[in-house]
Amino acid sequence: MCGIVGYIGEAQAAPVLLDGLSKLEYRGYDSAGIAVYDGESIHVQKATGRLKVLSELTHDGATMPGVVGIGHTRWATHGAPSNVNAHPHYNQAETIAVVHNGIIENYLKLRKYLEEKGYQFISETDTEVVAHLLDRYYKGDPLEAITKAMHRMEGSYALGIIFKEHPEQVYAVRKDSPMIVGNGRDGNLIASDVPAVLKYTRKVYFIQNEEIAVLTKENITFYNVDGDEISKEPTTIDWDVNAAEKGGYEHFMLKEMYEQPQTVKDTLNPRIRDGEVVIEELGMEDEEIRAVNRIHIVACGSAYHAGVTAKYVFEGLARVPVEVDLASEFRYRNPILQPDDLVIIISQSGETADSLAALREAKMRGVKTLGIVNVVGSSIAREADQVMYTWAGPEIAVATTKAYSAQLIAEYLLAIKFAQAKHTVSDQEAASLLRDLQKLPEQIEMLLGNKERIQHFANRYIAAKDVFFVGRGIDYAISMEGSLKLKEISYIHSEAYAAGELKHGTISLIEEGTLVAAVVTQEELYKKTISNIVELGSRGAFVLAVTNTGNREIEKAADYVIYIPQTNRYFTNSLAIIPLQLFSYYVSVGKGCDVDKPRNLAKSVTVE
Ligand code: AGP
Repeated sequence: MCGIVGYIGEAQAAPVLLDGLSKLEYRGYDSAGIAVYDGESIHVQKATGRLKVLSELTHDGATMPGVVGIGHTRWATHGAPSNVNAHPHYNQAETIAVVHNGIIENYLKLRKYLEEKGYQFISETDTEVVAHLLDRYYKGDPLEAITKAMHRMEGSYALGIIFKEHPEQVYAVRKDSPMIVGNGRDGNLIASDVPAVLKYTRKVYFIQNEEIAVLTKENITFYNVDGDEISKEPTTIDWDVNAAEKGGYEHFMLKEMYEQPQTVKDTLNPRIRDGEVVIEELGMEDEEIRAVNRIHIVACGSAYHAGVTAKYVFEGLARVPVEVDLASEFRYRNPILQPDDLVIIISQSGETADSLAALREAKMRGVKTLGIVNVVGSSIAREADQVMYTWAGPEIAVATTKAYSAQLIAEYLLAIKFAQAKHTVSDQEAASLLRDLQKLPEQIEMLLGNKERIQHFANRYIAAKDVFFVGRGIDYAISMEGSLKLKEISYIHSEAYAAGELKHGTISLIEEGTLVAAVVTQEELYKKTISNIVELGSRGAFVLAVTNTGNREIEKAADYVIYIPQTNRYFTNSLAIIPLQLFSYYVSVGKGCDVDKPRNLAKSVTVE
């Protein structure tokens, strides 16, 4: 996600901003920019690519004199990486400059409202809407303009703002996206994360939701969304810089697991409007959706496992046939594609060579293609006919967690969209599905709270040689992802197996104490899988079961049970995968493996 820095004090602002942004580079970005007030006007300089491009452009800030400013590293969500879309964004009169981290979910509605009031936009971003909205409400009092804008904006935002007519202040606003204030000796700072300010101060204030901070070079004052002054206590940061980059988490993977509730919200909420699924980027009217006779889902690794889940969800809800292929297989098997097929390529990085090649193969045959991609402006995002972004923010750990969860959400939304267009679900059923989807963030949060119990269980298996994951239907897809998570970060051999297949071979591998994780979330298959668990237990396996709250029957067969909250049967992957992610993480940590950068693996496999 984006990085924000702001400064006001005795020193020149630009070098402080560039230095602070450099401490946030780990967050991932594709462009950067700074705005500095030079005593007469607000100057903005932006550059796509690495931060050093901006530093060179401004001679390390020397060409932008002034003691108050804001800066930003942008991870593109709305609008491809470009100078125009980079932050800071001005209002038309260039008297207000804004930087933003998060997603303004109702930005299209606000943009329409502002265009009707005569505002002209130059970028595709949701952030530019904020600049014009502030302009709309500014009558001389920045705080009044900010609180009015906050009452109109929906979604997540951390904002840094400067007003030309109030150059003795920097404003920070927070809703969901993190924002901190640093109280320094030679001035005060704002930042989206602690590392940006540690060089200047360890005394920070954490802005809470719907709070505003007003910084002058000597003081920091806080207000609530109603404009009432509030008092806050500072925190002294005792982290080292490296730990701070992970937001206090030991590893990026753990941090990203804990970002999943927000990631699910960011991917889900902008696409549910007035109880309807709205996926503008799909570029298909209901009639075109009804004309799709077959869907081919093509991906690699975890994205493939998300695709296997999608098969069950699409076929279950929309009754459209779905084939799922590993991209490395699809591109060489001379696939049979019909003109009214739809090929969906799922990819976090948008640069996986096999997935990109599969996309090109499908396009060469004239079939419509849709990318479900996390990195905005990546090759797959650019080359697919349509792209649906997962808005998970940059994922640093090689083992995907939050991007995988966001891929599931994108698929659920697409399947419901297809089901409604094909009238295979009623409006009431669709409304119930959407209600279940909107409960997922809180349920994921609750499961993440289980980490101590899972860590304790994981420590018993750091010496394991083989671990099997079994399930039926969607539970088999969940098992695939659980198995990959374990093997890729702990180097323990693991296999996922359809529970019904065990007796056709694999069960011969079960010895006394072999750990088998049985995923049992599909109610109509409970009994079948429980009988598999009994078979496993009678051969000495230790069975960990992940099942729905209330399925007490399983305690007679399994040795250790983890319950997940009730949700629609099509959405259980989003919940069951959480304890399996945590289990893999703690086994890897217990073994002393390099959790974020496992041996032999890359975050994006851009070669065959
Ligand atoms: C998952 O934890 C792995 N990092 C890997 O399997 C990954 O999912 C696969 O390489 C696909 O990457 P993509 O989503 O960027 O295309």
